Amino acid sequence: MELFDVYPLYDITPVKGKGAYVYDENDTKYLDLYGGHAVISVGHAHPKYVKALSEQVEKLGFYSNSVKNPLQEELAKKLGDLSGCSEYKLFLCNSGAEANENALKLASFHTGKSRVIYFENAFHGRTSGVVAVTDNESIKAPFNQQHSVTKLAFEDVEALEKELQKEDVAAVIFEVIQGVGGLEEASSEFIRTVSDLCRKHEALLIADEVQCGYGRTGDFFAFQKHGIKPDIISVAKGMGNGFPVGGILMNPRIQPKHGLLGTTFGGNHLACAAGIAVLDILKEENLLENAEKLFQYVKERAAEIPQIKKLKGRGLMIGLEFDFEIASLRKELLFEHRVFTGAASNKKLLRILPPLNIQEEHFDEFFEALKKALND
Ligand SMILES: Cc1ncc(COP(=O)(O)O)c(C=O)c1O
Repeated sequence: MELFDVYPLYDITPVKGKGAYVYDENDTKYLDLYGGHAVISVGHAHPKYVKALSEQVEKLGFYSNSVKNPLQEELAKKLGDLSGCSEYKLFLCNSGAEANENALKLASFHTGKSRVIYFENAFHGRTSGVVAVTDNESIKAPFNQQHSVTKLAFEDVEALEKELQKEDVAAVIFEVIQGVGGLEEASSEFIRTVSDLCRKHEALLIADEVQCGYGRTGDFFAFQKHGIKPDIISVAKGMGNGFPVGGILMNPRIQPKHGLLGTTFGGNHLACAAGIAVLDILKEENLLENAEKLFQYVKERAAEIPQIKKLKGRGLMIGLEFDFEIASLRKELLFEHRVFTGAASNKKLLRILPPLNIQEEHFDEFFEALKKALND
């Protein structure tokens, strides 16, 4: 059987990873400043993570959500403590799209309404409802276009108020820092206004922290800088350091009911072991502080390179904006200098999403490679 060919592939086959590096089948070493798309949070093959998963799979890899699983409670407790959101309730699932899908469904259940507001350049996933609130028409099938959704621009308070006044909006969903969309972040003032207007019109505010959350920006959640408390927070990517796990955190005023949400695999024993190990490592190794500190270092190093016109993002969610399209620069970094980086819908933006335990010396290696690539 052949694979369904939906991915344009680089001709590289990573077979192992260690810290901030991956290695191909010939043992060629690559610096991973992409983290497999912001997924690798505590580094490849972190010994504590490997031990936790290996020990868990030897004991019990999976049982269904029809029995007690204390690992889910341990994960929820540790997540609440480290994020400062211990009053929220946790529902576990398997991916970012699934987390957002559940968030939208829950908002609709809670409010009894169905329309969802999203923003220009948003990416919330590829499944039924979340692709409808993603700003990319080319990935929406006719089936996905049945949802009642409205796209607005960041900072347009007037349009937002006008839509919310129709009193049919279940939720407003936004990425606090846009990933695929190119590191755009709305102002604190706008985000606080959105939060206030949602309260006023009884719509739920969903913060999609799938990419920007879990310590990546130096805060546990990127919204924390803006002084709001979203009704629902969605998480995935860095949560399992590569093991598929996602979740939504819900404000306690959203009441659960048996059968309201559900999943076969979500919150299974292995996923919880991965999630707990990630939280322990983030805490023990002070990786949130590391993310914040390294942003300052990148800022200094980026200032040495005149072709970089703008530095975007926060912590270790970084965009380097050039005054030219970066597709060939990215290829050169990968094939000539063995550095993985990311792209965005803004074709001039190079995205940097490394493991959170990366060090200054790794960025030194990157900036030397970047200088050489720019001078070629
Ligand atoms: C902000 C954001 N939300 C949701 C998703 C979807 O996550 P997943 O690919 O795990 O379904 C992504 C994936 O890139 C994302 O960046």
